[in-house]
Amino acid sequence: MKEQILKMLRANQNEYLSGEELCRRFNVSRTAIWKHIKDLQEEGYEIDAVRNKGYRLVSAPDIVTAAEIREGLSTRRLGQHIVAVKELDSTNVLAAKLAETGEPDGTLVIADCQTGGKGRRGKAWFSPPGTGIWMSLILRPHLPLAQAPQLTLVAAVAVGQVLSDLAGHRAGIKWPNDILFEDRKCCGILTEMNMESEEITRVIVGIGINVNQTEIEFPDELRDIATSLRIVAGRPFHRAKVVQRILERFELLYDQYAEYGSFAPIREQWKQQSITLGRYVSAHTPRGLLTGLAVDIDEMGALVLETDSGRQKVYSADIQVS
Ligand code: BTN
Repeated sequence: MKEQILKMLRANQNEYLSGEELCRRFNVSRTAIWKHIKDLQEEGYEIDAVRNKGYRLVSAPDIVTAAEIREGLSTRRLGQHIVAVKELDSTNVLAAKLAETGEPDGTLVIADCQTGGKGRRGKAWFSPPGTGIWMSLILRPHLPLAQAPQLTLVAAVAVGQVLSDLAGHRAGIKWPNDILFEDRKCCGILTEMNMESEEITRVIVGIGINVNQTEIEFPDELRDIATSLRIVAGRPFHRAKVVQRILERFELLYDQYAEYGSFAPIREQWKQQSITLGRYVSAHTPRGLLTGLAVDIDEMGALVLETDSGRQKVYSADIQVS
């Protein structure tokens, strides 16, 4: 009922909604309505309560609850089911558990704060409360295993496009899936998957975005290499709105990818946003160090390097760009 009351307040944002009308609508007492209003105020909603007039929503807080994300979300699949938690170890870990117990395709797991945020290659991901987007999507794509890297690239293109639009500055993608503004990282993506024989049956796409941090809020070791949407755009953002935009763009690109039956259109968009192609790269691959000029990504999503000993493909690596 709290979510319903919020919906009504939103729909009447410029006027007062009388307590009487709310009681009638939900068939409960004034005290019950007042209790929900108080809960909403405690969550950070600014609600004007005036005797003989009723309630009016003045502003909504920057929180990543299911109600805030759902409001105005226009997807068909992604985020239709939302698990929003104040604090947990890692949204990827919870999403993997939920995926195992049958949670549907497109489920969004999101937290305000992660105590054990996971980065790629066993690194930790700084995920403080109140400032960033720490979320994971459960996807059930039925793709051949070889196509798995493409899914991460689809996510990177979607996030990159949205962050560019919002910041008013070009966000670049560093292969495979870091999103940077002028060489400082704003977003990282960690894809983890489960497969049966040669088919991927479920994928967890974990997306971490620095949204509202100011420079001093980053720990020393990140201050020179990380940035946030707020630092780049010069204004704070309502995180739930950013989540909506990402879900909508990701769904659009993912549907294109699935319907088109080919990675080609995404590959082109990825190349347009790349800050890796045309630069010299050191790639720390599981098979050792490879250096060369990044010239392409192939039709499977691998990075193509022109090295001293000819063209070589990199499927999985941490890269440094010079
Ligand atoms: C990277 O190293 O660049 C990947 C970082 C991915 C971080 C996100 S935050 C949400 C999700 N949950 C995690 O524990 N990690 C990912």
